[in-house]
Amino acid sequence: MANRPRITDPAGATGPVLPRMCPVCAAAGWPDGDTEMPGLSVWLVAQRPAWVQRRGLFVPGSTAHPARMLPELARHAIHTYSRPGQIVFDPLAGIGTTLVAALHAGRDALGVEYEPRWAALARANARLARAHTEAGAWQVRRGDATRLPGLLPRDLRGQVDLVLTSPPYGRTMHGRVEHRHGPLTRFHNQYGPPDPASLAHRGLTGIAEGMYAVLAGCLPLLRPGGTVIITARPWRRTGLLRDLPGAITAAALDTGLQQVDRCVALLAAVRDGHLLPRHSFHQLTVARKTRARNIPVHLIAHEDILIFRAPPGDDRIDEPHHNTTAARVGQR
Ligand SMILES: C[S@@+](CC[C@H](N)C(=O)[O-])C[C@H]1O[C@@H](n2cnc3c(N)ncnc32)[C@H](O)[C@@H]1O
Repeated sequence: MANRPRITDPAGATGPVLPRMCPVCAAAGWPDGDTEMPGLSVWLVAQRPAWVQRRGLFVPGSTAHPARMLPELARHAIHTYSRPGQIVFDPLAGIGTTLVAALHAGRDALGVEYEPRWAALARANARLARAHTEAGAWQVRRGDATRLPGLLPRDLRGQVDLVLTSPPYGRTMHGRVEHRHGPLTRFHNQYGPPDPASLAHRGLTGIAEGMYAVLAGCLPLLRPGGTVIITARPWRRTGLLRDLPGAITAAALDTGLQQVDRCVALLAAVRDGHLLPRHSFHQLTVARKTRARNIPVHLIAHEDILIFRAPPGDDRIDEPHHNTTAARVGQR
């Protein structure tokens, strides 16, 4: 570890801090690092409402992002799949939830984000986390993660221990609906203007193709056997399921990543034997309208957690496999 290139941030941070207990492990009844009892494949990431999880950890303005990861999901993934001092990389960083969780867990954090507005917030949030922890180095680059090889320094090759990321997903999943000034209004549901480089303006096939390029660019950065975790939500359009997790799994396998696990992040709190869902108003409306058309769909209350590893040692490939993602997704 002594010779590994550190991520350099303006504050010149060094040294890990001690990780705190992961609240997801605590909710499931066992502490972090308990090797006797493996964690469940259902992650209880929504025992506390999202705003409580985010309180004090993010700068004002961060709530404007339409599709943020739950901090407890990021924290559990980081505690389970990396160690203090290691590098966590999010190529689709948004406002930097994964970077904040990484810094608070004593890891170094690297992010790439395409939209300048979110990249600026990711920097501000990482800076705040760094001020809290007084340890851990971080860096956020603005750029197109489908072109990673030209974006990041060569000395990061083979140094990343964990890639943790989530792609943008269907518009029905974005934003919130509230009575603000009279009628119900949807807000915080906007990305920047349409741009072909942004995955946020693509449909299912376009996102899967983009994720193939992003993950293929991550492979050379990962150490042999390093972990890739992608969280993805299925969504509905005209009553039919858009299976984003399935499409992304196909894309990841096409790059040569090896699938290790597929877990579920429960987007509901478990209370007195009941589930208290934390859905958006818009999702509820879509499900109700679909049921009214005699299609008995469920309200989606989970997110898929797709877990892969980079090929270890001898199996390692320098070039990703042929991209058959578009063809495969097209067949769905
Ligand atoms: C689901 S959001 C990530 C949210 C993040 N996990 C958080 O909690 O803040 C996906 C992000 O990918 C970004 N994005 C889309 N296309 C991109 C590209 N080609 N390169 C880099 N970032 C991109 C979007 O702007 C968006 O912020």
